[in-house]
Amino acid sequence: MKPIKVGLLGVGTVGAGTWHVLQRNQEEIRRRAGRGIEVTMVAARNLERARRIVGEAVEVVGDPFAVVNHPEIDIVVELIGGYELARDLVLQAIANGKHVVTANKALLALHGNEIFEAAQAKGVMVAFEAAVAGGVPIIKALREGLSANRIESVAGIINGTTNFILSEMRDKGLDFATVLKQAQELGYAEADPTFDIEGVDAAHKLTIMAAIAFGIPMQFARSHIEGISQLQAVDIRYAEQLGYRIKLLGITRRTVVDGAEGIELRVHPTLIPAARLIANVEGAMNAVLVKADAVGTTLYYGKGAGAEPTASAVIADLVDVTRLATVDPYQRVPHLAFQPAELADLPI
Ligand code: HSE
Repeated sequence: MKPIKVGLLGVGTVGAGTWHVLQRNQEEIRRRAGRGIEVTMVAARNLERARRIVGEAVEVVGDPFAVVNHPEIDIVVELIGGYELARDLVLQAIANGKHVVTANKALLALHGNEIFEAAQAKGVMVAFEAAVAGGVPIIKALREGLSANRIESVAGIINGTTNFILSEMRDKGLDFATVLKQAQELGYAEADPTFDIEGVDAAHKLTIMAAIAFGIPMQFARSHIEGISQLQAVDIRYAEQLGYRIKLLGITRRTVVDGAEGIELRVHPTLIPAARLIANVEGAMNAVLVKADAVGTTLYYGKGAGAEPTASAVIADLVDVTRLATVDPYQRVPHLAFQPAELADLPI
């Protein structure tokens, strides 16, 4: 069977990682997907850099719409980040009948309802494992692995940059600004690091997890968000002396207020007893704890940011979409996300 053709939007940290892992593990990936996955076109701001990464055989363009509108592209991988341009590109790709893989949590938290509805109407797939917790397959766990369960709560460390900052401040006594600079150099931080520090990135991810865990629409605007910028070294020291660690947690769970069921979404620094597993998640690692009725508590841990861990999730989605795109559309799981038509409108 002919390889499936992929257009890559963005060759930054994750785009380059995706390219390299696709080349390195070509054989394993082909075997798992049932056919080859070939990047044939790339859109990048820096054309020279992109050409150095992907070589001469791949078409490199400056206009991302040229990729999205190209008749031979089957799957568009959106890795440019941001809200508005990414939204236009993804909606255009869907309108053109292309499947989409995205790592863009901000896009999905804000425009996910519109995007999934468009995808469902068009019968294409939108996959987004890389949008939450980098290389940790938490989306697949919530959507497939735990599909027998009534999920009670999801809580975790879902921003690598802030966890790295808190760990380094505690272990090495470094100041906030120095550690943030290191996180940026290591490729963990967002283009606008205030998204990391103020908890916005974690809230984007929490919004997506809540949608899948509870079957609710994306409701980012209704989450409570508090970051780590107000924390001082002394807070971390005192917490330590009292037997706690401070972690930036994203928490979503079922609530009942005045007899009415609802869902709560919140991101804030949290004191966790030092002996707990999650208190010992250090550096840019992520960990998500899920409580569900049948299975009990499960914990998902791994690298939440960086080039290849995130590429691992992007490519897992490429493999899924390739497999599903290859079967008769009538046998297909209609969507790799949740289905807006079935959403319960639980209040947050
Ligand atoms: N800035 C994000 C983080 C990148 O630090 O977790 C991965 O989503």
